[in-house]
Amino acid sequence: MKIFSGIQPSGDLTIGNYIGAIQQWVEMHKDPSIDEQLYCIVDMHAITVTQDPKELRQKSREIAAIYIACGIDPEKATLFIQSHVPAHAELAWILNCTARIGWMNRMTQFKDKAGKNKENVSLGLYAYPSLMAADILLYDTTHVPVGDDQKQHVELARDIAQKFNHDYASDIFTIPAPVLRKEGARIMSLRDGTKKMSKSDPVDATRINLLDDADSITQKIKKAKTDSEPMPAKLEDLKDRPEVKNLVQIYASCADISMQDVLDKYAGANFGTFKPALAEVVVAKIAPIGEKVKELLADPAYLDDILERGAKKAESIAKVKLAEVYDAVGFIPRKG
Ligand code: AMP
Ligand code: TRP
Repeated sequence: MKIFSGIQPSGDLTIGNYIGAIQQWVEMHKDPSIDEQLYCIVDMHAITVTQDPKELRQKSREIAAIYIACGIDPEKATLFIQSHVPAHAELAWILNCTARIGWMNRMTQFKDKAGKNKENVSLGLYAYPSLMAADILLYDTTHVPVGDDQKQHVELARDIAQKFNHDYASDIFTIPAPVLRKEGARIMSLRDGTKKMSKSDPVDATRINLLDDADSITQKIKKAKTDSEPMPAKLEDLKDRPEVKNLVQIYASCADISMQDVLDKYAGANFGTFKPALAEVVVAKIAPIGEKVKELLADPAYLDDILERGAKKAESIAKVKLAEVYDAVGFIPRKG
């Protein structure tokens, strides 16, 4: 098994990124059937919408620190910055020529992000899923652990890989599969249980940021939307209570127990009891991450060294795949 995943260095990472993505990656460290794990800081994806260059630079290092602080071991996984490995952009171009416009038009994230402004967003935002396919396909990735919102993009990467292999009568690309958590693949906004918790939401109170301190985590949970019923005993009873379901989900992920376990513990309780208990488990999980990130960011040379080693390793794999692709499509190799 080969694993690839990535996060954009934009906005503040949330507990949704942690539960949906990073926590899965950390768990994969323990799986002996995994041969290779690559985790990328996808700065080239980030610039598909306007970014402040200074902030982008800062966020890229911050994400590296967050990966490590969350428990990703740079000795077990390759951590690197996307723009350090030019093969990503080079393969993305080739895949732009394989992907069909009709396929791109089906991408729901583009529709959501572009909204009514379709004519005025960047071409990069539209083409972004083929860059994501390049990220995945360069490394013979078999499994892509992501949150629910990225499933469609991984499926597109499969379609692109299959079409390329077919068009060039080759088996150059391994066909990847998305890996989603059974519970927690989609953490919702604290203010609206029908909306994804997002690091780009303008309202900070909708999310728990990985770098929030204990106080603000507690305050945000206290103010999170709920309803006036007590906690239910059965999972089915959460069906029409999206905000409560979300809080139960967050509790379960942070305490490493199932949602049913949470209900067994709190059935019949009111939110005056449940919310402080939830705040406690979230703070216990998240606050140490912030502390560790601060420590890591104080030593940028250490981080840059890890990222440099990661880029070298990633490049050595990506170069070989790109050369195979160039050969398959009929590009003449350079003489020198
Ligand atoms: P992004 O923040 O869009 O760069 O997402 C990085 C990773 O976190 C992707 O795998 C997303 O699917 C995942 N992710 C982002 N937000 C959430 C959320 N609210 N719930 C679960 N996973 C999420
Ligand atoms: N598009 C993903 C997101 O916004 C990030 C990403 C880029 C990614 N390349 C990837 C995720 C490759 C998994 C694999 O969340």
